[in-house]
Amino acid sequence: MKKLVKNNVYWIGKVDWDLKKFHGDEYSTHKGSTYNSYLIQEEKNVIIDTVWQPFAKEYVENLKKEIDLQKIDYIIANHAEIDHSGALPELMKEIPDKPIYCTKNALDSIKGHYHQDWNFKVVKTGDTLDIGNGKKLIFVEAPMLHWPDSMFEYLTEDNILFSNDAFGQHYANEFLFNDLVDQNELMVECLKYYANILTPFSKLVIQKIQQFLDLNLPLDMICTSHGVIWRDNPGQIVEKYLLWADGYQEDQVTIVYDTMWNGTRIMAENIARGITETAPKLNVKLFNAAHSDKNDIITEIFKSKLILVGSPTVNKGILTGLAGLMEEIKGLRFQNKQAAAFGTYGWSGESPVVIQKMLKEAGFEIVSEPAKAKWNPDEEAKLKCYKFGESLAKTISN
Ligand code: FEO
Repeated sequence: MKKLVKNNVYWIGKVDWDLKKFHGDEYSTHKGSTYNSYLIQEEKNVIIDTVWQPFAKEYVENLKKEIDLQKIDYIIANHAEIDHSGALPELMKEIPDKPIYCTKNALDSIKGHYHQDWNFKVVKTGDTLDIGNGKKLIFVEAPMLHWPDSMFEYLTEDNILFSNDAFGQHYANEFLFNDLVDQNELMVECLKYYANILTPFSKLVIQKIQQFLDLNLPLDMICTSHGVIWRDNPGQIVEKYLLWADGYQEDQVTIVYDTMWNGTRIMAENIARGITETAPKLNVKLFNAAHSDKNDIITEIFKSKLILVGSPTVNKGILTGLAGLMEEIKGLRFQNKQAAAFGTYGWSGESPVVIQKMLKEAGFEIVSEPAKAKWNPDEEAKLKCYKFGESLAKTISN
C-alpha cells in the first residue's frame, strides 16, 4: 500500500525486516532494510526507483492497485544496483515504451544489468522535468555517491530532495519518517552506513553537499532509498555527513586482533590496559576479528583516532580471520587515523611487519614500530605490551 509522504508524493517501497546480509555477504544488516520507491502524482505520474529484485512481482502487483500502469509518464532510475533497479524488468514488461530518466553512466550500468534497450533519456545536472501543476524535478548527478551512475533529484514546490543511497540507513521500520523512530538506533545505522559505504568518497560528499547548499534551495524533506525519510530537520543528516566526511574521529582506540592459542589476545589485553591506565578518558575497545561482525568493526575504526592490529605469524603471514578485514580497510581509505601493529610468533615473526605494511598502504599513519612477543607472552612480555600501550596513549593524548 502506498503511504503518503507529502502532498502528491507517496512511498511505494518495500520494508525488508528479514534482511541480515546485503551486497552479497559484504554488509551486515542487523536491523533489516527498506527499498524506498516513490510515486509522484501530479499532472504527470512519476516513479522514482523501484525495489530489490526478489520483491519485483510483489512491487508491480501492489503498484497496479494504486495506479493504472499505463498512466505512468516517467520513470527515474537514480542508480543501477539491483536493490533499486531490480523491479524495472517486471515493470517494463507492462509499460515497455515509457521513458526511463538516468545519468549517462547509468545507461551503461542499467543496460549492463538487464541487457534491455528501454527508452532511456539521459540527463545531467541542471536538467529539469516538468511534471505539471507548476512543479518540476531538477536532476543532480552525484557520481561516486556511491556509484559513478548515482543521481539525485529535487522536487520544486514540495522542496524534496530524492537522494537515493545518500543519507540512507539499513534500518527496517514501519514509521517511514525520522522523527518517529528510535533516535539512537537510527543514528547508529546512519554512522555504520557512512563508515562502510561512503568513507572512500568523503571528499566528493563534501563537494556535492556544498554544491547543493550553494543553490540555496529550501529543503523540507530528504527522501532516501534506504531507511527513514528525513522530514524533521533534514539538515541534521547533512550536517552529520559534513562532520563524518572531514576526517572524523572520537576519543577512541580500537584494537583488532586474531589469535590461535590466545597469545595475541593476551598481548591485546595488556596493550589495552597500558592505554586505559595512562589515558582513562580514551574509549578503548577490543575485537577478535574472527568472531566479530566486520562491518561493526569498521564502524568502530571509523570512530577511532588510533587502531592497533595484531595477529600471530602463520606461514609468514597473518590469520585469515583478520586478512579479509584488512583487505576491506584498504579499500575504504580512512583519513586522519593512526595505527600500529603487534603479534606473537614462534619462529620467523613476520606478521606485525605484514600488518604494518597493510596499514601503511591503507593510508594510516604508523606511529610506532610493532610490538612482538615470542611464544605465549610471559610476565616480561606482558609488561612490554603494557608499556607499548602506555607509550601510544601518551602519543595520542598529547
Ligand atoms: Fe542501495 Fe547502491 O544501492
